[in-house]
Amino acid sequence: MALYSEKVMDHFRNPRNVGTIENADGVGEVGNGKCGDIMKIYLEIDDDIVTDVKFETFGCGSAIASSSMATELIKGKPVSEVLQLTNKAVTEALDGLPAHKIHCSVLAEEAIKAAVKDYYDKNGIAQ
Ligand code: FES
Repeated sequence: MALYSEKVMDHFRNPRNVGTIENADGVGEVGNGKCGDIMKIYLEIDDDIVTDVKFETFGCGSAIASSSMATELIKGKPVSEVLQLTNKAVTEALDGLPAHKIHCSVLAEEAIKAAVKDYYDKNGIAQ
């Protein structure tokens, strides 16, 4: 069996939503101290809906695939729903990741939550 699913390979080779958003409503950056990978998520939010999302990932293929899939999963969703996104959902949407690569999907969950927190902080929204 291949180590990586076709979906992982597809999102690694053709990542969706790569880039930055100028004057983003929320930005979240997280890193993993062990592998040194870094992920940054930019959110554009209108009327509490994520209308656009971009990412920059300096990291492994699984981190890139996880960022790409996570951004696809939250686009067009209300912020409250975005906060429910788990690394498990990202992994499932990718048809799985090898056990030692699960932390890459955790980075995606954390980066998105950090970006939402930044949006809340900037707008004085209590959490
Ligand atoms: Fe660390 Fe993938 S190896 S994010």
